[in-house]
Amino acid sequence: MKSSLNTLLNEDWELGGFGIYIHWPFCTAKCPYCDFNSHVSSHIDEKLWLEAYLKEISRIHQLTKGRIVKSIFFGGGTPSLMSPDLVYDILSHTRSLWLINNDCEITLEANPTSVEAQKFIEFKDAGISRISMGIQSLNDRDLKRLGRQHSAREALGAFTIARNIFNRVSFDLIYARQDQSISEWRSELQQALSGDLDHLSLYQLTIEEGTAFGDRYAIGKLKGLPDEDRASDLFEVTQELCELNGMPAYEVSNHARPGLECQHNIVYWKYGDYAGIGPGAHGRLTLKNDRYSTEGYLQPDRWLSEVSGGCGDKLVQKLPLKDQGQEFVLMGMRLTEGICKDRYQNFFGHPPKPTVVKNLERDGLIKATADRIYATPRGRMLLNYVIGNLLVN
Ligand SMILES: C[S@@+](CC[C@H](N)C(=O)[O-])C[C@H]1O[C@@H](n2cnc3c(N)ncnc32)[C@H](O)[C@@H]1O
Ligand code: SF4
Repeated sequence: MKSSLNTLLNEDWELGGFGIYIHWPFCTAKCPYCDFNSHVSSHIDEKLWLEAYLKEISRIHQLTKGRIVKSIFFGGGTPSLMSPDLVYDILSHTRSLWLINNDCEITLEANPTSVEAQKFIEFKDAGISRISMGIQSLNDRDLKRLGRQHSAREALGAFTIARNIFNRVSFDLIYARQDQSISEWRSELQQALSGDLDHLSLYQLTIEEGTAFGDRYAIGKLKGLPDEDRASDLFEVTQELCELNGMPAYEVSNHARPGLECQHNIVYWKYGDYAGIGPGAHGRLTLKNDRYSTEGYLQPDRWLSEVSGGCGDKLVQKLPLKDQGQEFVLMGMRLTEGICKDRYQNFFGHPPKPTVVKNLERDGLIKATADRIYATPRGRMLLNYVIGNLLVN
């Protein structure tokens, strides 16, 4: 698709950039709330995994030659369980194929145990520039309930180690937990914000089908979860405290000091292109002016064998322009800066409906400028409603 925005840009994805996502599908234990593609395995042959990653990276490179990589992200699962040598070899191969942006962010997700913290220095030597830690809670009772393997003390210790080694460190907390009062969350979040932080991901606990929490919830045994009103109060407190501490939301669940936003997530939300490499990894790739959605085989063994046969993706699907437009709105409206009207027009062949825009503005849910539409703080709390309206054609 030709963009009318900038004559130097040929394709829509360039407005979001190009990132590479590598999925490591193993964890030491399965957390009861988690529905990510993660597996517990007693034997992992890293040599086989290295071979498969390198092969897939080369395959994707053949399709995307000449691009500049803006971000590389090792996600999981628990990629901090990988050996630093494996990370190094993957990064060396990646660097040998594409041009890597000078300030390319190379993130690794880490569980904050002391064992993993001991490896941080080696991860830095391997080329990692940013660590994202799944701390989840600063309260031991809740860490236990969430099935985590670390204590709050251990997590803060791992954070300090990471802080001393990396320029960029982020951590995740899960809130709207069982029996969590607003004042408890306030003081926990304040404690988090008093640290030397540049980025925080704050997710409301979601009960996913097919997880241990999902099963318990279905039979009425997961008690003390907040109702809708309390959940939105918790969200409001979160926004207020983060803003007061210089960490405003740049996306519904993500907060950063201005300029220190996670580059990888920005590629997703600005609807750039990203290669998804590894079991269950999702990708979006524009090839010869068509955008494709890709998805790797879920099961680690199956993925390995499919890669040795030539391709680890179980799905490669061309996305009609209208579907791309829907994804663009869904992702872009999560950002505080919202979406660009010209891109909307490129996808749908017309601008957002003036009556819809007027009504949403009147209800205080969005703001529209000459070239953008973005959700107000109230609109972000009713984002599904806002997006549903913007997608009415
Ligand atoms: C896939 S995990 C990877 C990080 C690492 N394995 C860990 O657990 O620390 C990414 C993040 O998603 C969030 N997450 C996963 N499942 C969630 C759920 N059901 N509700 C809310 N947040 C969730 C957690 O905050 C977690 O840190
Ligand atoms: S939350 Fe993280 S550690 Fe827990 S099962 Fe999911 S990916 Fe693994």
